[in-house]
Amino acid sequence: MSPILAVQGLGKRFQGLVANTDIAFTLQPGEIRSIIGPNGAGKTTFISLISGHLTPTTGRILYKGSDVTGLSVARRAQLGIARKFQTPSLFDSLSAYENIELAVLRSRPRSRGHAARIGEVLELVRLADQRHAVAKHLSHGQRQWLEIGLLLANNAELLLLDEPTAGMTAEETHATGILVRSLAREFGLSAIIIEHDINFIRDLDAPVTVLHLGRVLVEGSFAAVAADPRVRDVYLGNG
Ligand SMILES: Nc1ncnc2c1ncn2[C@@H]1O[C@H](COP(=O)(O)OP(=O)(O)OP(=O)(O)O)[C@@H](O)[C@H]1O
Ligand SMILES: [Mg+2]
Repeated sequence: MSPILAVQGLGKRFQGLVANTDIAFTLQPGEIRSIIGPNGAGKTTFISLISGHLTPTTGRILYKGSDVTGLSVARRAQLGIARKFQTPSLFDSLSAYENIELAVLRSRPRSRGHAARIGEVLELVRLADQRHAVAKHLSHGQRQWLEIGLLLANNAELLLLDEPTAGMTAEETHATGILVRSLAREFGLSAIIIEHDINFIRDLDAPVTVLHLGRVLVEGSFAAVAADPRVRDVYLGNG
């Protein structure tokens, strides 16, 4: 299987500050990857380089085998690279259904079967029962899921999630793990998830990449990474 994402020699400098250095990273279709690392390790920078919100200083980004390094955020989004921001870009006074409807109409203006697609997306993000609820009345967690629904409606294939469970209750955090896993398993979506919540990362049970000082420090299963003395030194041990 050819990777959905292959990153080679990726680096980003902000004036004198090196935020990412020589990162090699590969993700398969349907794979979930967790990214952990201390504050300032370069995790958000890495995702911003993939989404196109930042331009790399060195290296290249291949998406489905094509070089997307020079493409705009909008063009990458059209190709399926979908970044979720912490503050949802919802229409607060519209219902969950109407929010998804707008995204579906925008991404598939000329196709049929919109109602079925909207229903499918609401089902996927566990908001089928809340379809008529106005977005501003949804819980924090539900609003985050609706935001993921907008990405799905926009034909996302690679989800980039930066601390998606921040501010969620334990129950919502758990449900988010189940949601992401089902998107990967049942629909073949790929996802890169940055999280500080180590319990969430453990439950997700996906391969983990540890960033430290802008570099990949260790990569492996959660168990292998958690047991690695280098990781304990820079991160887990300090908690
Ligand atoms: N736009 C920017 N201009 C200058 N420096 C930046 C910029 N964005 C990030 N940095 C710096 O790059 C380094 C990596 O930042 P980044 O936000 O990628 O870390 P992070 O791993 O996401 O941290 P956190 O866990 O706190 O979110 C930090 O030293 C940060 O101050
Ligand atoms: Mg960050």
